[in-house]
Amino acid sequence: MKIEAFDPARHNRSGFASGNPRLDEYLQRYLSQSVKKSIVQAYVAVDDGGKVLGYYTLSAAHIRHDELPEEAAKKFPRYPIPAALLGRMATDTAARGANLHVGSKLLVHAMKQTLKATGTLGVACMVVDAKPEAVGFYQRFGFMPLKQKDGLRLYLPVETIRKMQQLFAA
Ligand SMILES: CC(C)(COP(=O)(O)OP(=O)(O)OC[C@H]1O[C@@H](n2cnc3c(N)ncnc32)[C@H](O)[C@@H]1OP(=O)(O)O)[C@@H](O)C(=O)NCCC(=O)NCCS
Repeated sequence: MKIEAFDPARHNRSGFASGNPRLDEYLQRYLSQSVKKSIVQAYVAVDDGGKVLGYYTLSAAHIRHDELPEEAAKKFPRYPIPAALLGRMATDTAARGANLHVGSKLLVHAMKQTLKATGTLGVACMVVDAKPEAVGFYQRFGFMPLKQKDGLRLYLPVETIRKMQQLFAA
């Protein structure tokens, strides 16, 4: 399995099924346009035959200062905080059944891409609007809730990712 930038001409996504039809349809019908228009950048995990096992998207976003929990708020200036939005992420149910840990590998890749982006522009956090059933997955990687009623918008400071990067070295 390898992870590469999404290329609609090469990556076979026809049978992709994550258990969430909207995330499947987005990959199959809308993602290539979004990438073409630079609304998102997308990465896919693919098997040797080019079949998509999982994908995620990244785009520019910001966190309002008053969304941050009190302790974190003290560490950031009082204006919108630039962030990388993990907009969509899903893995194929068959890959999940085979215990390939595609989700973890994609999330670590997204963290690395976010760190890379900091060499070009200011990015202080990652942010994700998690599906209720996926909150636990992101929390395992240190994502924390922003101050939102539903508790589904999660963030991870780039500073934390930097500290974790040795773990990614392998
Ligand atoms: C959430 C999702 C991307 C995780 O991908 P995955 O391929 O299952 O992830 P991994 O196999 O790498 O899981 C890593 C660990 O997190 C755990 N985990 C997976 N999904 C989890 C969840 N929803 N809640 C809590 N823990 C979860 C796994 O059990 C695994 O634990 P282990 O290391 O002890 O075995 C995947 O389940 C998915 O696509 N779900 C449907 C679509 C969706 O909800 N997308 C998220 C939108 S915000």
